[in-house]
Parts: sequence; C-alpha cells; structure tokens
Amino acid sequence: MSEGGARPRIALVKGDGIGPEVIESALAVLEAAGAELDLVPVEVGYGRWKRTGLAMAPEDLEAMGECRGVLFGAITTPSDPSYRSVLLAIRKGLDLYANIRPFQDAGMDLLIVRENTEGLYSGVEEIGADRSTTLRVITRMGSKRIAEAACRLAKGRKLTIVHKSNVLKSDILFLRTCREVAGAAGVEHEDMLVDAAAYNMVKDPRRFKIMVATNLFGDILSDLAAGVSGSLGLCASANFGDSHALFEPIHGSAPDIAGRGIANPVGAIRSAAMMLDWLGDDERARTIDEAVIWALRRGYRTPDLGGRCGTADVAAAVAGRVEELASGGGGSEGKGAI
Ligand code: NAI
Ligand code: MG
Repeated sequence: MSEGGARPRIALVKGDGIGPEVIESALAVLEAAGAELDLVPVEVGYGRWKRTGLAMAPEDLEAMGECRGVLFGAITTPSDPSYRSVLLAIRKGLDLYANIRPFQDAGMDLLIVRENTEGLYSGVEEIGADRSTTLRVITRMGSKRIAEAACRLAKGRKLTIVHKSNVLKSDILFLRTCREVAGAAGVEHEDMLVDAAAYNMVKDPRRFKIMVATNLFGDILSDLAAGVSGSLGLCASANFGDSHALFEPIHGSAPDIAGRGIANPVGAIRSAAMMLDWLGDDERARTIDEAVIWALRRGYRTPDLGGRCGTADVAAAVAGRVEELASGGGGSEGKGAI
C-alpha cells in the first residue's frame, strides 16, 4: 500500500491514545481490500508536544494540504489554556467546513451535517481569572455552504435544521440561511430547537434522517447519536472542504482504555471506507462496510459493545471477511444494519 505511482497520496496521522491502535486496524482492513494508496505519515498531537514542545509544525499542515486526503486516528487535547487545539487548526487550515457523520446501527439511519469552522469553536476567546468569553461566530457564507452540503446529501430525505434561535440571536442568521437554501433547492425541511432535538433523538431516534447544525450542537448531538447507536467506537466521520477531506472516527483518544488493546476499531475502519468512497472506490468501500456488519453480527465485538474481543480480533475478522467478499464468496449476509 505504500509504494509510489499514480495512487492517491493520503496523509496518515495516527495520533495519541487509542488513535494508533484503531488506525492499525483500519490499515489492516485497507490492505485486505487491496486499496491502492500512497501513505504519508505525519506526526501531530499531544505526544509530540510533550516530546518536542510543538504539537504541529506549519510543514505538517502543508504536508496534509499537499496530499489528496488525510486518514486520522484521534489526538488528546489537554484543557490547558496555552495548548491550541490541533484539530481546530487543521479544520481551519484546510477549510474543512463540513463534518459529515453517519449513524446506522441499532435501527438508526441518520446523517449529521455539522458546520466545522465557526460557531462556538471560532477560537476567538478571552480568558481571564474572573471572566472568560468565547465568541460565537455565525456567518451567512458559513451557514450557506453547510446548508448547501446538507441539501446535496439529503437525497429525498427530510432535513432537520437544529438551532437555538429563540435564545441565541446569532442562530437567527443560521436558521434563516438554512431555510432559504433548502427552499431554493426544493429540499423538504423542518427546524427544531437543539434541546428538543436531543430529547427526541433519545425518545424516537428513527424520526430523524438528516440534520444540519452549528459546530457545538453538531458535536454534542453526534456523541448523543453515537450513544443511541450503541457506542462511540462504531462511528465514523468525514471532514470535507471544497478540495480536501479528512476522515476520522468521531471518538477521541480515550486515555482510559489506551494501550489495553480493547478499543473498538469499527469507527476507524468505517472512516477508511468513507475515504475510499470519496476517492471513487465505492466498491471496496461497500465491501468493507458489509464486512463490518458481518463481523458485528457474528459477535466480533469489543467490550464497549458488551463483547470480549480485542481490537486486533475485530480487525482480523473484518479483514478476513473483506478478502472473502472480494474473492466473490460470502453471499449477501452483512447488508443492512446490526
Ligand atoms: P473519548 O471519545 O476519547 O472517550 C469517551 C468515552 O468513550 C471513554 O470512556 C472512552 O473509553 C470511550 N471510547 C471512545 N472511543 C472508544 C473506542 N473506539 N472503543 C471503545 N471505547 C471508546 O472522549 P474524552 O474521554 O472526552 O476525550 C479524551 C481525549 O480525546 C481528550 O483529550 C479530548 O480532547 C480528545 N478528543 C479528540 C478527538 C479527536 O481527535 N477527533 C475527539 C474527541 C475528543
Ligand atoms: Mg466530539
């Protein structure tokens, strides 16, 4: 998978904590699928900061920008006011404005489209001993492009616009812009206050098909959706810009289980499949998704799903199934949801 040629160049960031563990699994599955990629390792994150005092150098961002896409594990972001979030810097630096998160387990079939560059993650902050503020930035351009992305992805499904415009007046612009875009695109839509959306997602998760939300609301609702779908460890994401994309499981570095070989690798494996799909290799992407469902149904599950398998056992089961499917065996078992 690593020699040059016309293969797409992909920056590989393993990261901290369980990041390297789940990325190893994703690589094993990509290898089994015969994916043709030219991987460029890039080291960023907390581990590097502790070792060198620098979490990410400008050259690292450049290296990521020069690749077609990025496959990313997870990194630790300490709550230290002097530490700048590397992920925010990458999302902003590569202008990866659309964070796409599919949830398809436990009967859910939901796509969350999260604005990824502004809102409460604007980075415009004043930190004082007695008063700290963070500026919530909503722009017409930012709202328009995320609404357009959601409308492109809606494909006949009803779009739910999530907001809190009754209290946060900045959300009036977001809501209005999303409505305008959906109306012009002929996309059926509704809107819902974020607290009601959280409640309804627990009460009746199948009610929602596709949601568009500002940065923080999308972040929180997607962990909620992950909980409803069974585990954070199952869930994948893509961060899209107009020319670049970064693929990562939605979970973090999980320091509580790091190094124990029990992290669920499915989110990372599915992220790799999303990447192949984006690269135009939808056949391999589908094969990997089917193999994941097959492995989960067969009981290859890590402890977060109540199973007894290790990370490597799940990866090996998925990789084995991918090989079987790729060679024409295996029937159709594995389609649909777990
Ligand atoms: P987390 O997502 O790392 O973990 C939350 C809980 O879910 C933990 O109990 C963890 O053990 C469990 N979990 C997460 N992924 C799992 C997996 N694959 N298999 C099994 N269990 C899993 O969130 P937390 O603990 O709030 O953050 C830890 C660190 O990760 C922090 O430094 C945070 O800033 C960072 N983080 C990084 C992200 C990224 O790189 N994209 C995203 C979210 C958090
Ligand atoms: Mg999050």
